[in-house]
Amino acid sequence: MTAGRTTAGPGALDWTNPLRDPRDKRLPRIAGPCGLVIFGVTGDLSRKKLMPAIYDLANRGLLPPGFALVGFARRDWGSEDFGKVVYEAVRAHARTPFRQDVWDKLAEGFRFVQGTFDDDDAFDRLSHTVRDLDRVRGTGGNHAFYLSIPPAAFPVVCKQLARSGLSAQDGEQWRRVVIEKPFGHDLKSAIELNEIVNEVFPEDSVFRIDHYLGKETVQNVLALRFANQLYEPIWNSHYVDHVQITMAEDIGLGGRAGYYDGIGAARDVIQNHLLQLLAFTAMEEPVSFSSDELRAEKIKVLNATRLVSPLTETTARGQYTGGWQGGELVRGLTEEEGYDPDSRTETFAAITVEVDNRRWAGVPFYLRTGKRLGRRVTEIAVIFKRAPHLPFDATMTEELGQNALVVRVQPDEGVTMRFGSKVPGSQMEVRDVTMDFGYGTAFTEASPEAYERLILDVLLGEPSLFPVNQEVERSWEILDPVIDAWTAADDGPDPYAAGSWGPESSNRMMARTGRTWRRP
Ligand code: BG6
Repeated sequence: MTAGRTTAGPGALDWTNPLRDPRDKRLPRIAGPCGLVIFGVTGDLSRKKLMPAIYDLANRGLLPPGFALVGFARRDWGSEDFGKVVYEAVRAHARTPFRQDVWDKLAEGFRFVQGTFDDDDAFDRLSHTVRDLDRVRGTGGNHAFYLSIPPAAFPVVCKQLARSGLSAQDGEQWRRVVIEKPFGHDLKSAIELNEIVNEVFPEDSVFRIDHYLGKETVQNVLALRFANQLYEPIWNSHYVDHVQITMAEDIGLGGRAGYYDGIGAARDVIQNHLLQLLAFTAMEEPVSFSSDELRAEKIKVLNATRLVSPLTETTARGQYTGGWQGGELVRGLTEEEGYDPDSRTETFAAITVEVDNRRWAGVPFYLRTGKRLGRRVTEIAVIFKRAPHLPFDATMTEELGQNALVVRVQPDEGVTMRFGSKVPGSQMEVRDVTMDFGYGTAFTEASPEAYERLILDVLLGEPSLFPVNQEVERSWEILDPVIDAWTAADDGPDPYAAGSWGPESSNRMMARTGRTWRRP
């Protein structure tokens, strides 16, 4: 969080002083000589997130001068065509303003290699291109390979990288692989994939992307919890009633049938993003923020996380039907192009888990995600127990709810605290009010996109924000019984209207313990 620079108080290190403390961690970290190869360069993720993030990093001066970007795909393109595609992606989606000089320098390092994943010649050409870049751009033999491709293609690409010598690290040089989710579709396939990847790349060269960890607001959970004295004493089962983690989206799934049909919301979001949010919320304080210490705590808390029985009552799934969302008439999932008309793929999923340790015993964590919901919002809401006694006339506290601390991950990034306050007047009436921190008003600097942070971390070899294989495997282990139970059930997901907050079964899931979902 760099915003502190603008408000540095007395005794703070002088930012402009050339003799400043070299250990000052606030200094921007610039990647050393290196290049990035993207597989799946014609895909949506590449155009909307990866290419713009690379430009934004260049614009912020965080890439080395000779940085190289190589695209690998089947398309019959030359390096110039590739350059045009990157240009359009940058113009449409970059976060920072377009600067011709930055672009011109960056574009000098673009190369394109045409081929399919089973084509040995294509990988030999790629190997030649990479060596040539070391010579003409000074990339120093340091290259990252970004697999923005379906998981079914991971094995063949890893094998090709090994066969063509591209994965081999010589001396001080590094080779890293970046893997996009989904990482498998259950525990078994994740273990198999991990074995295949680890045969070619040692674990410390594997960077698995969970882009939620690249978000400032998610990292802020750690700052909030571990930089303050205020919250940690009450961050436990003595004070917390339950936790709700919500990732709601208003968009539908048109155009994503190839990936989404048969996968569903639980695998797409709960297995990765929501369980990682839970880990940040529930884990113990790490000894330091080094990657090993941080991951050790995340693994520990995921190991203590378990589902609550019976799954028929403690989980819920739904599928959106057509209808009016806002002012727009939208289609149901099964009417979207490419989906099986009988598809049982869930577009809404909710689960209940508990964390079996001293801190959290008995505190339910409710996780939900869905498409075509009321609005786009991701938040972590920690709901506190009621005060054990209220020395007020009961009618005076009718509008007093439970205290809550809500981390607004997106949009409108910030933190809200809800508590009771006296209503002005001669009575002692108490009602809920909120106290708000918003990134937009507190800091002058805009937050970088998650992919900027994560791509830079890959190039720097900084692994803290990337889940390791044990985390991925444990997350599947937690979720698999839910998916198995849903698959074995006679019925499919419950229908819910587009623009609503999911199926009735999700409300029933909360009601069984007398609780309700927040309406963010
Ligand atoms: C992806 C999921 O990981 O995250 C998508 O596959 C989802 O289904 C996306 O839409 C949401 O990301 P964000 O950053 O827009 O919340």
